[in-house]
Amino acid sequence: MDTVLQGLRISYLPRTQAVETLSGGEKARIGLATLLLRSPDLLLLDEPTNHLDFASMEWLETYLSHYSGAIIMVSHDRQFLNRAVNQIFEIDEYNHHLKRYEGNYDAYTQTKAAERAKWEEDYERQQDEVKELRKRIRETARQVGHTYRAPRDNDKYARYFFAQRVDSTVSRNVRAAEEQLKRIEADPIPRPPELIRVSSYFRTEAMQSRVVLSATDLTKCWGERCILSGVHVTVPPDARIVLIGPNGTGKTTLLKILVGLETPDKGEVQAATGARIGYLPQEPTDLDLAKTVLETYRYGHIGYEADFVAKLIGYGLFRLEDMTKRVGQLSVGQRRKLEIACLMAQGPNVLLLDEPTNYISLDVLEAFETAILAFPGPVIAISHDRWFIQRFGGKVWELVDGKLTDGS
Ligand SMILES: Nc1ncnc2c1ncn2[C@@H]1O[C@H](COP(=O)(O)OP(=O)(O)OP(=O)(O)O)[C@@H](O)[C@H]1O
Ligand SMILES: [Mg+2]
Repeated sequence: MDTVLQGLRISYLPRTQAVETLSGGEKARIGLATLLLRSPDLLLLDEPTNHLDFASMEWLETYLSHYSGAIIMVSHDRQFLNRAVNQIFEIDEYNHHLKRYEGNYDAYTQTKAAERAKWEEDYERQQDEVKELRKRIRETARQVGHTYRAPRDNDKYARYFFAQRVDSTVSRNVRAAEEQLKRIEADPIPRPPELIRVSSYFRTEAMQSRVVLSATDLTKCWGERCILSGVHVTVPPDARIVLIGPNGTGKTTLLKILVGLETPDKGEVQAATGARIGYLPQEPTDLDLAKTVLETYRYGHIGYEADFVAKLIGYGLFRLEDMTKRVGQLSVGQRRKLEIACLMAQGPNVLLLDEPTNYISLDVLEAFETAILAFPGPVIAISHDRWFIQRFGGKVWELVDGKLTDGS
């Protein structure tokens, strides 16, 4: 018990604190602790590294690598998958088939890329074949019409005889072509789905102001515990900032204060005129569960329904059949996708993202990362995702004991 509790470092929390006020990582660590303490033969873990800080994640990786039982886990954490698994099962979101890939995440992406290339090639080849068969059927039908033309000279018999022979060969060919076409049409290679194009939809202008967002002397305490004390923040127009820090240090609180969703005890926040802040919360909790996907997406925007549908499908995040689904029916990952779509619809020129890579599937993740990298305005992202942090580059701000290590 001590090993688990110490490994997950949750002893500092007051025993009376309400669960709903715990930080994302604190909740995740308490959930893991109660599970691991039972040490079952088969461990089923659903996104175990979401919200965990680096120390807890590394502790978990080591713990699981020594685990004697079997483990099945759902995870989108690419570095974790690389280190902790030896096979990957993938369920297709739409055809619901399960596919097995040997090896870790790197092996999985390589196999997927090769499969996709082969699929595209096979599809193209079959499309060419279909075209060719249709052409052959059309042309030979014309030829047959031609050979049936009424004979005009004296050699009627020979011509007729020849035409008959040609005709039977031609019709054999046509029949063979038609049969081949029918076979293909009965079970065609489907067109490979469009790749997600989130990247092309974050269109916005670069910011002109020298400082887009700033905060001075921010202080925030919960009772005796001060999580922010005298924090200064300056965000230039080309900022790429990753905000890191152990679970429960106040990263989410700081971001909420910058957006205006939480008030500091002391200090103030200033945003440049013209700044449109797009905020992605840590957990998808703000959506109205009774609304449909389309209603949620178009809420607050004026325009034709068909245009919104086209846009939403155009991102590659949803399909036509999803439009009328209620948010309450969606998985957490699908809700996250909807939040990302709504974020794009707002047309922000500043992005504040709280653990943007949590919950979403690997394909969306890659596309969303590309979109964030290509974003022309400043971005602050809280993240524990080691893969994302590496790709994102930029400055790293660490929040420890109420202070930012590089905030000004
Ligand atoms: N309403 C509240 N009442 C009491 N304590 C709170 C409240 N809201 C947050 N806290 C505490 O403030 C601390 C900071 O929370 P915050 O969500 O900002 O952490 P975080 O750095 O984002 O953590 P994580 O990495 O786990 O997401 C936590 O210890 C949390 O329990
Ligand atoms: Mg947080």
